Amino acid sequence: MEIRPMLRRDKPAVMRILKATPEFKPSEVVIAEELLDSYLNSPTDSGYYVLVAEVDSAAVAGYVCYGPTPLTETTWDIYWMAVDPELKGRGIGNALLSAAEEQIRTRHGRLAVIETSGTPQYEKTRHFYFARGWEKICQIADFYAPGDDQVLFIKRL
Ligand SMILES: CC(C)(COP(=O)(O)OP(=O)(O)OC[C@H]1O[C@@H](n2cnc3c(N)ncnc32)[C@H](O)[C@@H]1OP(=O)(O)O)[C@@H](O)C(=O)NCCC(=O)NCCS
Repeated sequence: MEIRPMLRRDKPAVMRILKATPEFKPSEVVIAEELLDSYLNSPTDSGYYVLVAEVDSAAVAGYVCYGPTPLTETTWDIYWMAVDPELKGRGIGNALLSAAEEQIRTRHGRLAVIETSGTPQYEKTRHFYFARGWEKICQIADFYAPGDDQVLFIKRL
């Protein structure tokens, strides 16, 4: 498996993964695509960085999008990540998240933040972050919708 910066030619594969991820609503996929386009149009100064995981030197199996949080000093956000639903649970997400953390550290990031949902559908996702040393720092009830809390995880890098 290779983790590398996303290229324009990777976009169809990443969009296919986003659309195939049952956790994501169509409106969320639209925003995820906007972030990808911002990055692809200006990879060095859009404020977004995108890494993809490539398996068998061909297929894109997942991606992570992250960037410095505007108006903060050295705080970074992991904005989005997804792994091909058919390839979950094989360490691809772990490799992507570790690579993003490493890149943030290299760019002198001090604190990283991930926002996710508190619904049962996201239980495995929350476990995934917790098991990788991320700390659940707060939960805002009914943030996204009634019954859909926002859960914030942080990691000091
Ligand atoms: C969360 C996600 C990125 C993890 O990637 P992954 O490649 O499946 O994860 P890995 O194989 O590296 O790690 C497996 C771990 O993730 C957890 N996990 C999360 N979702 C999982 C799933 N659907 N299937 C299997 N394992 C999953 C497992 O509990 C496992 O934990 P463990 O290592 O303590 O046993 C991926 O499952 C995914 O795309 N989920 C849906 C989209 C999503 O929630 N994105 C994050 C939005 S905030």
